[in-house]
Formats: sequence, C-alpha cells, structure tokens
Amino acid sequence: MKFLIAFCILSSILNEGKACDPLHAQAHGVNLVCCSLNESLTPSCEFSSLCQEQCSCFLTITRDLDCQIGSSVTSNVSITSDILIRSHLLQKQYQWLDHQPNSSPLLCRQPNLPNINSPYTIVVENSNGSVTKEFLLGSCSQNVTSITFQHYHPIYDTIDFGACFPNLASFQVVLLERTKATFHESLRNLRSLKVLSLVNVDFEFWLQPSPFLNTITYIHIENSSITELPKWISTSKTLATVYLKGTKISSLSPIAQLTAVKSLKLSHNSIENLHRLLFISPLLIHVDLSYNKITSFASHTFSKCVDLRVLDLTGNPIKMLPYKPFSKNIRLKWLKLSRTNITTLSPDHFYGLGSLKTLSLSRMPIQTISPYSFVPLKSLRYLDMDSCNLTRIPQAVTANCHLARLNIANNMLHRSSSMPPEVMAMLSGLSQLRIDGNPLTEFPASFLLISRENIRLLRHLLHSTMTLPVWLREPCAPYYWSMHLANRTNNLKSFVNQYDEKRMIKNGLGYCREQYDWMMEQMEIYRELEKNSGCYSLRRLRSSVSASPTLTPKIPKNISNSLIFSIDHDPSSPAFHIPILLLISLCANFLLLFSMLMCSIMACRMEKTAENV
Ligand SMILES: *[C@@H]1O[C@H](CO)[C@@H](O)[C@H](O)[C@H]1NC(C)=O
Ligand SMILES: *[C@@H]1O[C@H](CO)[C@@H](O)[C@H](O)[C@H]1NC(C)=O
Ligand SMILES: *[C@@H]1O[C@H](CO)[C@@H](O)[C@H](O)[C@H]1NC(C)=O
Ligand SMILES: *[C@@H]1O[C@H](CO)[C@@H](O)[C@H](O)[C@H]1NC(C)=O
Ligand SMILES: *[C@@H]1O[C@H](CO)[C@@H](O)[C@H](O)[C@H]1NC(C)=O
Ligand SMILES: *[C@@H]1O[C@H](CO)[C@@H](O)[C@H](O)[C@H]1NC(C)=O
Ligand SMILES: *[C@@H]1O[C@H](CO)[C@@H](O)[C@H](O)[C@H]1NC(C)=O
Ligand SMILES: *[C@@H]1O[C@H](CO)[C@@H](O)[C@H](O)[C@H]1NC(C)=O
Ligand SMILES: *[C@@H]1O[C@H](CO)[C@@H](O)[C@H](O)[C@H]1NC(C)=O
Repeated sequence: MKFLIAFCILSSILNEGKACDPLHAQAHGVNLVCCSLNESLTPSCEFSSLCQEQCSCFLTITRDLDCQIGSSVTSNVSITSDILIRSHLLQKQYQWLDHQPNSSPLLCRQPNLPNINSPYTIVVENSNGSVTKEFLLGSCSQNVTSITFQHYHPIYDTIDFGACFPNLASFQVVLLERTKATFHESLRNLRSLKVLSLVNVDFEFWLQPSPFLNTITYIHIENSSITELPKWISTSKTLATVYLKGTKISSLSPIAQLTAVKSLKLSHNSIENLHRLLFISPLLIHVDLSYNKITSFASHTFSKCVDLRVLDLTGNPIKMLPYKPFSKNIRLKWLKLSRTNITTLSPDHFYGLGSLKTLSLSRMPIQTISPYSFVPLKSLRYLDMDSCNLTRIPQAVTANCHLARLNIANNMLHRSSSMPPEVMAMLSGLSQLRIDGNPLTEFPASFLLISRENIRLLRHLLHSTMTLPVWLREPCAPYYWSMHLANRTNNLKSFVNQYDEKRMIKNGLGYCREQYDWMMEQMEIYRELEKNSGCYSLRRLRSSVSASPTLTPKIPKNISNSLIFSIDHDPSSPAFHIPILLLISLCANFLLLFSMLMCSIMACRMEKTAENV
C-alpha cells in the first residue's frame, strides 16, 4: 500500500510537466476550458461537450478583458506604493482553478495559464486591442495552435505571431463587417500554418514568400478587396483547398500552377479569361468558377485534370465552348453551364464525358443543338434545360439511354409540334419530364406515346398539363386524358374521372372521341419506334431492376452503343444515310478487289507472254 502511494506520488512528480488538468475558469473577461486525457470536466459544466479525449485548452478573450498592463520586469517609473503593489502581485500570480473564481488580479504579460504543454485554441472576441495584444504576448510561452479573431485591431499587426506562437496551425479572422487590415508583420514568419481564413477583411498579401508555404493546406478568403494572390503561393506543394469568394481577384495564374490542389471554390470573384491557363494539378476533383467574368477558356485549360468530378461554370459570360474542351475529363460527373451565353452545342463540345451524370444547361440562350450533341454522354442521367427559350424538345435528348430525368420547364413549347412524336417516343421511359411553365396551347398527340406502364411519368405529365394553357384552351384535353387512362389504375384515373363520356356528349364534345382515335392511329408507327428502341428495353430492364432491388442491375454494355444510329428516323438527317454509306463503301471495296484481281491476271499474262518471247 505504501509502495503504491509512493509510486503515485513519484509518477505524479514525473508527470508534472505533462499533466493536463481538466478545468473551467472564468475570470477577468477570460473564459478558459481545459480538457484532459482521461479525466472529464464536471459533467454539469456547460463546456464539457467541448472535450474529446485529449489534452487541449480553449481560451476566449471577451470584451470584459481586464488584465493589468505593465511589464513583468520591475520598472523605475516612480517609486511609489504602486510599484510596491505591483511587485507584490508578481509573487501572487493568478491561479486558474476549476470552478473556483478568485479575486487576485491578472497580469497581461504573466497570465500564468495552466497545462503548459496542452495545445491552446484562442478566440478573441470584441475586446480592447492594446490590452488583448499584451495578453497575447503574455501567452507566448503557451503551445497556441489556433487563433481566431472575431474583431480586429491594427495593433495586432505589431505582434510577430511566427515568433510568439511557433506551433500556430490555424489563423482566422472572421468579422461581421468589412474591415481594413494588414498582416505583413504578423503572419510573414509563421512556419506551421495549415489553415488561413480571412472573412470580411480588406488586405493584400506580402511579396516575400512565407515559410508556411510548406505546411499550408487550406486558404479561405471571403468578401475582400484583395486583387491578387502572390506568385509565391504557386510553389506550395501542400495547399489542397483554395476557397475565394467575393474578392476582386481577376487572375488565377498562381492557383493554376499549384501541383497538389484538390478543390477550388472560386465563385463570385472577378476572374476573367482562362484561355492562357492550364490547371496542372492532376488531383483536382472539384472546380467551382461560377459567377465570375470568364468569357473564354481553351481546350487545354482543364486537360490535366484527369480526376475532375465537378466543374461549375455557371453565370459566366462564356459565348462559346472551345473544341473538345473536356476530352481528358473522363471522370467528370457534373458539368454546370447554366446562365452562360453559349448559343451552340455540338458533339465535340462534350467529347470525352463518358462518365457525366448531370448536365446543367438552364437559362442558356441556346439557338442550335446538333442532334448528336449528347451522343458522347453515355452515362447521362439528368439533363436540365430549364428556361432556355426552346420552342421544341431537341432531337438531341434522345441519344442518352440512361437519361432518367429531363427538365424542359419554363421554355417556349407552345404547339403540339413542340413535342415531336419521334422524340417523345424515345422519352417514354423517363422517370421525370418537367414541362411546367410552358405556353402550350395544343394537346400534343405524342403524349399518347408514353408507355401506359410508366404510371409515374404519366401522372407527372397529367399534372403538368393541368397547369398549362392547353387545359383551358383545348376543350378536348381533359377528355383525351380520361379516355387514355380509361382502363388504367383507379389511382391515376381518379384525377380525370369527372370527364366521362356522358359529360363529353352533353357538352357537345363528342368529336373528341374521334380526334382521340385519330391521334392514336397517327401515333401507331411511333409506338413501333418506342417498342423497338434499345433504349426502351434498357430502361425497362432498369425499371424492373429498381422495382426488385435484390437483382443486380446487369445491363448489356454493347446494346447502348449500337443504339445511337437507330434513333433518328428523319430521312433528311445524316443518320438515315448510314446504310447508304455502308453500301457505297462495300461497292468501293468490291471494285478494289476486282481491279486487284484483274491486275494480277494481266500481270500473269504479261509474264507468260514474256516467257513466250
Ligand atoms: C490516464 O490514462 C493513461 C493511459 O491511458 C494512464 O497511464 C494514466 O494513469 C491515466 N491518468 C489518470 C489520472 O487517470
Ligand atoms: C529607468 O532607469 C534608468 C536608469 O536608472 C533610466 O535610464 C531610464 O530612463 C528609466 N526608465 C524610465 C522609463 O524612466
Ligand atoms: C503543441 O501541440 C501540438 C498539437 O497537439 C503538439 O503536436 C506539439 O507537440 C505541442 N508542442 C509542445 C511544445 O508541447
Ligand atoms: C484600451 O485600453 C487602454 C489601456 O487600458 C486604454 O488606454 C484605451 O483607452 C482602451 N481603449 C478602448 C477603446 O477602450
Ligand atoms: C459577404 O458579403 C455578402 C454581401 O455583402 C454578405 O451577404 C455575406 O453574408 C458576406 N459573407 C460573410 C461570410 O460574411
Ligand atoms: C450575353 O450576351 C448579351 C449580348 O451579347 C449580353 O447582353 C448579356 O449580358 C450576356 N450575358 C451574360 C451572362 O453575360
Ligand atoms: C428568353 O427570352 C426572353 C424574352 O425574349 C428573354 O428576356 C430571355 O433573356 C431569354 N432567355 C434566354 C436564356 O435566352
Ligand atoms: C378499355 O377496355 C374496353 C373494354 O374492356 C375496350 O373496348 C377499350 O378499347 C379499352 N380502352 C383502351 C383505351 O384501351
Ligand atoms: C456483347 O458483348 C459480349 C461480350 O462483351 C459478346 O459476347 C456479345 O456477342 C456482344 N453482343 C453483341 C450484340 O454485340
């Protein structure tokens, strides 16, 4: 027993340097919470949730900070009682004890903070700048790893944070109002900085490289008048995330040269041309350049970003896409081109995007879409063409067998011909087709092509039609639906139950029945198209798979490729000429063979005649 006690005492003496005592103390406008490795704070303490199992302290300097300014070295200002009191205080430094406030004064330069080896996280609230500076200087001997200023005073730039806090890993200034600041003196010498975050701070970087170049991983600058990033940033091999928002930065040259950057969130800046840039980091996964002033980029701009998954160019005044701009971005999943000024789309624009799942083209003033524009998008699931002023569903949307959702809401689809049957037949397997917000005034016969098994899509279309002008302008429209859904599930039919045969006759709309039959007859050939399309069988397979999730989706790969040219049946389109081309090339081959044969025969004869001679 004695031995045990002796051991305990001994070990506690040995551990004295390393000990970290849990405590919560509030005094002189300072709130201090320290967490320990295995002893927890009093559970009733409101800060106990801060603590995970490690030694660490959280110190908040509030506006009530009152520590006594005055150097720890006895000064010779005047030999009065004041100096006596001060020297007396030196003997009695403030003791930070758990939930035991005491009245002894706090010296700024000697705060006597506990747990000397614990990493400290300091938050500076709205406190007096010069007093806070003294307190921070007094904390220099502490292992401070993180400082956050919620209020900034120019005097902080006289502190050399690098010298004072060599382990500082995170420096953040997060303000509520725009404030001018300089960090030339304070941040220049930091050598362990990992996170730099400056929000609502107007500042500029300094010209000389800082040693934290080799440790920094995350830079966040938001709402700032900063106009450029320093060149030296580009040599960092650790910087993984750059997050700039609401700055005046116009050039990305230093960022494009970062070799290890993974994520660039650069929306709402003043970034201009990209066509001289080449993002060289092969690790880039996410690039957000939305709402900048980009007018152009080049085929090479993203050509090194082989791992890119999300590219956002929304809200840039880009007029046209360069030739094969994404050919190397084979893993790109989401491409956003909404609110750009692009008017023309062709297949080479999307060349290489075999993994793309979502393409956002909303609010683009599209004028021309080549029918094969989307052919390279073999995996496309969602196509958004909201608010593009389209007067017709483009043929191009039929090229994607995996397409499940198509948004063409808020366009200019106004006639029945806006929804051509040859297109609708191919969209029969979609799970969502948004057409609301279109000025449709005629009932498109092509609605009758939608497979009656696709209840979900039918319901969607029915509900959308009810909100469109056609529901009121075309008296037969409700009856068409009613007739079409006559033998269907009650669920769907119930929406149009009131539009029955009797009511139709009574309202003198008997002709609607004939119209309906006539439309159905017209659609007959397209129904064939729908049934025979590989897309359809693929989709049917998919929907049956999704209906019974125990089955693994096994989609024959080679079907999807063979489809593309079977889609179009418009005789004027190039696809129609494919068999003819084939025939011609066969003929040409035959001719070639024939002429070779003739040649050899002639050659033989020549030889023979030569021998004879
Ligand atoms: C804390 O845990 C360590 C190892 O997990 C142990 O060696 C040490 O004695 C514990 N300290 C206290 C005060 O419980
Ligand atoms: C303190 O004393 C020294 C020498 O006695 C004198 O040079 C110095 O100016 C004094 N400092 C102040 C602040 O009065
Ligand atoms: C300071 O804290 C960090 C983070 O916990 C730790 O890695 C480092 O060893 C500590 N430094 C000192 C001198 O205690
Ligand atoms: C901050 O504290 C210093 C020293 O106590 C004092 O002179 C100054 O007036 C204070 N500033 C403000 C804004 O209260
Ligand atoms: C940046 O500024 C905008 C507009 O001035 C403001 O709405 C936004 O909240 C600011 N962001 C932050 C993080 O303060
Ligand atoms: C698109 O171009 C038109 C005219 O060229 C221009 O008025 C408009 O502002 C541009 N849109 C964008 C988003 O820049
Ligand atoms: C669509 O047309 C309207 C009216 O002509 C125009 O104001 C709007 O900018 C156009 N939208 C696009 C994306 O071109
Ligand atoms: C519904 O069923 C009736 C008879 O059961 C049949 O005459 C009619 O053609 C069917 N209607 C449709 C739209 O299939
Ligand atoms: C599809 O591919 C498989 C193997 O990849 C092959 O055995 C099969 O013949 C192909 N089918 C068609 C129609 O090309």
